[in-house]
Amino acid sequence: VHEIIICLIIGYVFGCFQTGYFYGRLHGIDIHKYGSGNVGTTNTMRVLGKKAGYITYAGDALKAIFAILLVRYVIYPQSPDNLLLTMYTGFGVVLGHNYPFYLKFKGGKGIAVTSGVMAAFDVRFIIPGLLGFFIPFFITRYVSVGSLVLMALFPICVLIFHPGQWHLFIVSLVFCAMAFWRHRSNIKRLINGTENRFDRKKKKVK
Ligand code: G3P
Repeated sequence: VHEIIICLIIGYVFGCFQTGYFYGRLHGIDIHKYGSGNVGTTNTMRVLGKKAGYITYAGDALKAIFAILLVRYVIYPQSPDNLLLTMYTGFGVVLGHNYPFYLKFKGGKGIAVTSGVMAAFDVRFIIPGLLGFFIPFFITRYVSVGSLVLMALFPICVLIFHPGQWHLFIVSLVFCAMAFWRHRSNIKRLINGTENRFDRKKKKVK
């Protein structure tokens, strides 16, 4: 158990690095005050443009990948529970990203981070993950729909590629539940038909 706690803490520390927030600050704005108010890739792109979105995505996905590789190959390379520890590290990154202590716990929704977790956890998750995100996104033009389908695929991929590993499955379900919880305002807007559609030509704020 103490190994799990250490992994959660390592993950949390990595997760706290808020790429979108820092990028906004470097450009003189508090991203919390614009667009959907979220610090993630979608809102950074919405408010500050494509480059900002790509940088935010890269920073957020990479922090998950780094944390996981660190635990897997440096901190606990010999542990028989290596895979499980990787999963908990990823969960720590999502917690740090979604609830950073120094921003009054106002962080992101954890999708870019989870995509990094999925890729680092098992490279076989990459193709279903990409398809799971981009197909619904291109059909609906709602990023949140792609995000939610991607999140639902995480536990499904665990079931398919790691059958019978119930502990892994339950943690991946918690990832999924947390993402749906963080998207509750998006889900309400989707139901009311007022969710923001991704608009390539929309003017950015700065
Ligand atoms: O991953 C976040 C995305 O699904 C929605 O972002 O800014 O539209 O709430 P946003």
